[in-house]
Amino acid sequence: MLVGVFGYAQREDIFSDWRPNSDTQGVRYVGSKACLDCHKAQAPQLNTPMGQALEVAPDCRIVTARGKLTFKNGPYTYELARQHNSVVYTISDGAKSISKPILYCFGQGHVGQTYLFRHNDILYETRVSYFEKLRKLDFTIGHQPAVPTSLEDALGRAIGGDEPQQCFGCHTTGAVHGLELKLDQLNAGVGCEACHGPGEKHLIAAKTSNAANPTNSRKLAALEIFNPGKLSAHDLTQSFCGTCHTGFEQAMLQPGQGGINNIRFQPYRMFNSRGHNADDARLGCVACHNPHDKLEKDAAYYDPKCLACHLTKPSDSKTTRRNADACPVSTKQCVTCHMPRVELPGMHASFTDHWIRIARPGDPTPR
Ligand code: HEC
Ligand code: HEC
Ligand code: HEC
Ligand code: HEC
Ligand code: HEC
Ligand code: HEC
Ligand code: HEC
Repeated sequence: MLVGVFGYAQREDIFSDWRPNSDTQGVRYVGSKACLDCHKAQAPQLNTPMGQALEVAPDCRIVTARGKLTFKNGPYTYELARQHNSVVYTISDGAKSISKPILYCFGQGHVGQTYLFRHNDILYETRVSYFEKLRKLDFTIGHQPAVPTSLEDALGRAIGGDEPQQCFGCHTTGAVHGLELKLDQLNAGVGCEACHGPGEKHLIAAKTSNAANPTNSRKLAALEIFNPGKLSAHDLTQSFCGTCHTGFEQAMLQPGQGGINNIRFQPYRMFNSRGHNADDARLGCVACHNPHDKLEKDAAYYDPKCLACHLTKPSDSKTTRRNADACPVSTKQCVTCHMPRVELPGMHASFTDHWIRIARPGDPTPR
């Protein structure tokens, strides 16, 4: 649903400037489970929507839980059903029908799920998707609701050019190496190594214990893996999380991505926000989101994040750290008014606007 551009320079040391999908230069991915032996604190990441941004069929929980999903469009009937060891997508026009086994289920969060299958050796996106709010199938974003003229047209959209690299680059781990797509090496979802780079050398270094000098062996292990915590807040936000969530530069390169849909490009939206585009760790993505845990839904959780810079009351005096103006209206629940939720047509879901601002009722959403 989103289109991204990967184009990071290759480096001699892949960990000096790692970005998701950088060329691994032969260093292998080991899979998230191997990391948990030593890093249990980060284990909740694997159960987040990001950690499960893709499932390999037939292990698709939504379809398994629903059993069978159906949809009707003109003469066409769509069915998505779990059948023994596969998930089958069937379209019928009453006389003829086509059935295809689903290969991948994309998306796990609050919006919904889209399915990929192969037809004539090309990857296709299903014309219908599951939407959580409707609890049923409807048109996939970007697909024309006009009634197709043939059963084949009714199937979905061929994913052409370098689009498969982009889809799998954002929703999986270890399948994209630079510009190359290697589906046989895919780890489902955004796992540890999507953000930290392939773990093979780190694992070897960490397991080679040096009893004589344990500090030194820890240091060596740390060199063989990427820690995004070492990036500046600007790079972490715009070019690291922004690889998949769409940073400012990527948004500028995307024709047709202007308009309201860029609500989903959080790094880009925040960059546009007056007072909030600075290279300041109090505003990087990880200031508000722990990448290893689930999304916090309680608005009060975010208040201290805002109050790290903003005064609580207009009568408070400014300090070097807290020097941004106070709100004349409220001392709490900041995000409910200043990061309003915006409904996107056709997505059957609302998104949080990261363009922090004074949003008065009736004001248009900035684009
Ligand atoms: C055998 C134990 C072990 C395993 C398995 C392991 N690590 Fe580590 N990891 C370490 C040690 C030791 C360090 C060194 C730093 C420390 O002790 O805090 C470290 C440090 C890190 C750091 C911080 C690096 C830095 O620059 O500060 C990251 C990120 C990391 N590991 C990720 C991973 C990932 C991802 C995996 C799975 C691919 C993994 N680790 C598997 C032992 C392990
Ligand atoms: C490799 C691509 C990739 C990278 C890098 C990435 N994300 Fe994500 N993220 C995703 C995808 C895909 C989803 C959607 C998952 C879904 O709902 O199926 C997502 C979802 C999320 C969510 C919403 C979770 C929810 O419960 O709905 C948050 C918050 C988030 N990411 C934060 C971050 C932060 C912070 C960073 C940087 C530290 C980051 N992401 C880096 C791909 C990525
Ligand atoms: C540039 C990275 C990128 C590409 C390319 C991309 N996605 Fe996503 N996708 C994301 C992110 C990030 C989110 C979650 C952000 C949000 O909440 O809007 C997401 C969300 C989704 C969701 C909704 C999941 C939910 O939260 O319920 C679906 C379905 C989805 N993508 C399918 C696809 C499919 C299919 C493709 C390829 C045809 C694709 N995406 C390509 C990054 C990407
Ligand atoms: C979406 C990207 C993303 C994913 C996926 C991810 N991490 Fe991280 N990880 C980060 C970021 C960003 C930091 C730096 C956080 C900071 O400095 O606040 C980090 C830091 C770390 C550290 C260093 C912790 C410290 O206290 O310095 C370890 C260890 C680590 N991650 C392990 C893992 C493991 C294990 C997994 C998989 C279970 C994982 N990470 C998945 C983004 C990610
Ligand atoms: C100042 C705090 C703050 C910062 C910084 C921040 N976010 Fe958010 N984010 C939020 C809040 C609040 C929500 C809504 C939580 C809820 O669902 O109640 C949210 C929700 C999200 C979601 C879920 C989808 C949605 O639209 O609700 C994604 C994805 C996300 N943020 C990604 C990011 C990324 C990527 C960055 C870095 C550019 C980032 N956020 C920086 C506060 C922040
Ligand atoms: C890194 C510091 C920092 C953080 C964190 C921060 N702000 Fe700001 N904010 C500023 C600065 C600087 C300005 C611009 C001038 C001023 O108010 O002093 C500003 C301006 C604003 C404005 C006025 C915008 C306009 O268009 O006039 C609002 C509203 C606002 N912030 C709300 C928030 C909310 C809500 C949060 C938390 C979700 C937050 N800020 C987090 C520094 C910050
Ligand atoms: C009930 C909605 C609401 C909540 C909750 C709220 N604000 Fe506001 N805020 C407003 C409105 C409306 C304005 C514009 C007031 C005006 O211009 O008369 C405003 C103005 C601001 C400004 C601009 C002040 C200036 O002098 O230009 C900042 C900064 C700000 N709020 C920050 C915050 C922070 C931080 C919080 C949480 C502690 C917060 N707001 C909570 C509605 C709210």
